[in-house]
Amino acid sequence: MLKLVIPATLLMAALFLISCTGTQPTQPAPTPPPIPVPTPTPAAIDAAKLFATNCVVCHGEKRQGVSGLGPALTPTSLTKLSDAEVRSTILKGRTNTAMAGFEGRLSAEEIDALIQLIKRTSP
Ligand code: HEC
Repeated sequence: MLKLVIPATLLMAALFLISCTGTQPTQPAPTPPPIPVPTPTPAAIDAAKLFATNCVVCHGEKRQGVSGLGPALTPTSLTKLSDAEVRSTILKGRTNTAMAGFEGRLSAEEIDALIQLIKRTSP
């Protein structure tokens, strides 16, 4: 009798384990949320145009600088300044110089575009 009980117990245990794990119906994958429709982005920022409008007077047509008004703004002239330093110069300006801050006049994206222009592209 005992000979039968042990395998039967094992079988029950095995069935129990299977019912707990393997045979569980898998939940259907949740449906992904709808892909948001991108809001139309404003026209790409034209950094050269921004520079021509806001900076050219003091920094020169070709960013070469204007004697007595402003220094050159080129990747070479700006090697010593980090992007963050250039950004804060544009945002806050430089105290006691003609370099005024553009905070509130230029958006963060416009300032980013200007940083790319003056730090990464040769005039
Ligand atoms: C009214 C003149 C004037 C205008 C307009 C002007 N700047 Fe300046 N800018 C200066 C002067 C002067 C300095 C030098 C300040 C100093 O001596 O630290 C300067 C310095 C800078 C520097 C630091 C350069 C360095 O080598 O330390 C950056 C960057 C800069 N300007 C960016 C801009 C940008 C970008 C614009 C346009 C959005 C702009 N400036 C508009 C006068 C001007």
